[in-house]
Amino acid sequence: MKKISLYVIFAVITISISAQKYEGLANTPPMGWNSWNKFAFNFDEKVIREVVDAFEKNGLKDAGYEYIVLDDGWMTKERDENGNLVPDPRKFPSGMKALADYIHSKGLKFGIYNCAGNKTCGGYPGSAGNEYRDAKLYASWDVDYLKYDWCNTDKKHAQTAYSTMRDAIKEAGRPMVFSICEWGLNKPWVWGKEVGHLWRVTGDIANCWNCSYTFRKLSTHGILPLLNIRKHDNLRKYSGPGHWNDYDMLEVGNGMSDAQNRSHFAIWCMLSSPLILGNDLSKMQWETINILTNKELIDINKDSLAIECFKYKTLWNIDIWARPLKNNAWAICFVNKNGFKIKLQYNWAKHIIEDEIFNKKLDCSHEVYTLRDLYAHKDIGTTETPLEKEIGKHDVLMLKLTKKEK
Ligand code: GLA
Repeated sequence: MKKISLYVIFAVITISISAQKYEGLANTPPMGWNSWNKFAFNFDEKVIREVVDAFEKNGLKDAGYEYIVLDDGWMTKERDENGNLVPDPRKFPSGMKALADYIHSKGLKFGIYNCAGNKTCGGYPGSAGNEYRDAKLYASWDVDYLKYDWCNTDKKHAQTAYSTMRDAIKEAGRPMVFSICEWGLNKPWVWGKEVGHLWRVTGDIANCWNCSYTFRKLSTHGILPLLNIRKHDNLRKYSGPGHWNDYDMLEVGNGMSDAQNRSHFAIWCMLSSPLILGNDLSKMQWETINILTNKELIDINKDSLAIECFKYKTLWNIDIWARPLKNNAWAICFVNKNGFKIKLQYNWAKHIIEDEIFNKKLDCSHEVYTLRDLYAHKDIGTTETPLEKEIGKHDVLMLKLTKKEK
């Protein structure tokens, strides 16, 4: 009897030890860069080193970006004779440890990609059945972040598959941010908090404002359609410090107009989405750098209240997003979806905005707030007078409202 109860206690302790992710790695949404959106399978150590150098040169590191993540395409098509993954020697002749050392020497962090299936989406060896071996290998390279995809998984149970990899990371003994990338198919927001630090909520982002198309049998969506996919899932209550809804990597700097880039970045900050850049950092236009390093916007993304925004309403085809911030402040973001510029007229006192989930209220008929334009970096008055502001085609007016003490 004694023996049995000891066994039970041991089993309970083992289960609870194995059922933990590394905590404290993503108290704010992770920020970094990933190779996929711009380079797909065509990247090598030269590209990555240029990206690392651009982090410093263009002020991205100072703005808070830290992870450099190699997506699909970094390995050879077969494991070696010991069953280990092999970095493609043509792309990475110096090996992964040397690359990790270079990244770390610049004060940045190193991330890598694999997949819960037998093969990755690009047909490289997946981690199914090799989770513990692969996690150990990543740990030996000093990997800090693992993005884990969902291609070729047949009938696998998502929560179980992702939990296995989480446990493998834990056993490998190196803290890694664990990025769940199963496109929101199995409601990762419900179980993801215990398993990873961020979870994709949709299929892949596409580099366009308002288009959708199928790529490799998966639907991809531009900025506007992507934001509509989870309209009825009420995701915002699941996101918070250590466990974030991931609206996918950014397309800022990949060819959309400056106005569209400004809107895209502002909305991702409002959503508390991880900010993982997806453009060629070594060839950025001035305005792209300006957008991506906007500290005032990044501060909204990282706000310690960690409340994801919601769409308050749409007026004259202008989406109005609202987000409660710490110290009773609010962020309000007006996105002009019209194909022409428009003069916004907005009487604050007449729009009482209520966040019923987090129990917050913006009532400008009783309280006065000062207004700051976060792209212009200017204070532009208070909520006492109606706002009149021209917003360009697909552009955004991104405001922070700070309560005025009486
Ligand atoms: C999936 C993921 C993408 C990217 C590719 C790589 O489509 O969702 O983010 O990792 O695979 O093949």
